[in-house]
Amino acid sequence: MDYSDWLKNKGLEYIDNQLYFGGMNTIDIAKRYCTPIYIISEDIIRQRYKALKEALNKEYQNNSIHYAVKANSNLAFLKVLESEGASLDCVSTGEIHLCIKAGFSPERIIYTSNNITNDELRYALQKKVIINLDHTCQVQRLVNMADEVGYKPELLSFRINPEFGGGHHDHCITAGRHVKFGILEENIVDAYKTAIDNGFTRFGAHIHIGSGILEMEPFVNATEKYLSIVKKVRKELNIDFEFIDFGGGLGIPYRPSENPLDLSEYALTVLSRFKSAVQEMGLSDPKFIIEPGRYLSAEASVVLTEVNTIKKTRDKNFVGTNGGFQVLIRPTIYGSYHHIINCNTSRKDKKIHADIVGQICESGDIIGRDRDIIEPREGEFLAILDAGAYGFTMGSEYNSRPRPAEILISSGKTYVVREAGSFEDLERHQIIPDHLLK
Ligand code: LLP
Repeated sequence: MDYSDWLKNKGLEYIDNQLYFGGMNTIDIAKRYCTPIYIISEDIIRQRYKALKEALNKEYQNNSIHYAVKANSNLAFLKVLESEGASLDCVSTGEIHLCIKAGFSPERIIYTSNNITNDELRYALQKKVIINLDHTCQVQRLVNMADEVGYKPELLSFRINPEFGGGHHDHCITAGRHVKFGILEENIVDAYKTAIDNGFTRFGAHIHIGSGILEMEPFVNATEKYLSIVKKVRKELNIDFEFIDFGGGLGIPYRPSENPLDLSEYALTVLSRFKSAVQEMGLSDPKFIIEPGRYLSAEASVVLTEVNTIKKTRDKNFVGTNGGFQVLIRPTIYGSYHHIINCNTSRKDKKIHADIVGQICESGDIIGRDRDIIEPREGEFLAILDAGAYGFTMGSEYNSRPRPAEILISSGKTYVVREAGSFEDLERHQIIPDHLLK
């Protein structure tokens, strides 16, 4: 794909040497709201959701997209997806809280916890969300909690570990014999049997194999194994699965050399296998579910940072900015690539080869390693692309740096959807014991 088309696909373009995102001038936004800052494009969220929904609808009507909230849990972001009709994958009670706040009804929420506590089970029951367990031992505790709360759901789901995983980094491969998630094939019939014995009457099944997958092979392997396990449960226990959830994992092109995932190929790959398994099992129109996080959110947001120091040493050049790994930690913990571009490209002939770094007091604070960019001047801005997934949500106040603001852009307007953090935030919830106050 041509570079300018690649940018355009992410809502980015240069007009008179200035970078526009979602039709808005990034330099104006950076000056108006200060940096570092996350900018979220409402348009891109909607475009990604609609494209995915359309690709699924073409193959199978009874489908549902459960957005994985962990990727980006900003309330305005959630509201946009709520208005599109999305459902949700939550992995904590905090996420459930935010989603209810954003207006989602509980039947649109699947709660996939791991190592769930009794308090979390109680909360999930009180909120009446769909519960997806990852070990048989949790069934009895769920029943005990249901007695206490006075509400027992009919529907229960289990996370299956299909032993085939995939993902952009070891930490993000979530299926396989050595990962902590889900229930292996040899234990799965027992899990559903335990649920039946405890009075559950409606069932779902779930997998999530990993994150950041651009090729089809991991999806093919996992889908085939998963469906063979589901068939086995169906055969042994005659369960009429109400939904079969294939988890998330859909990747996005972080590098200009990468192309966007072919959605029709993905839909066809997974759904053709799903449909023939459904037919073979004689199930009555189960819901097909996926749980994309990155796909819906990554490209919807860029981070703007300001260059303050250009350091040229004997061996290396450094472009020093105010956006380090407290703002975006993916490059530091996974070695992830985020494309970084100048907001102002008027001096195209003056290039610099450099590490683009932040202000954190660790040498791993490198947001872009060995990059070729136009040499920025002090005070100019850079855009870190594809920051909408696992960007803000994994950020921190490390080095006691308050969190950045988040701005939503929509139809030519900007909205502050999270104010920048402050020094008061750094102190919040801290209590100094009396004997230290003297
Ligand atoms: N469903 C479940 C149960 C999950 O655990 C996840 C992600 C998803 C869905 C969504 O996966 P996605 O479509 O976004 O790939 N922090 C890492 C990613 C960790 C993903 C954890 N689980 C990163 O920055 O790449």
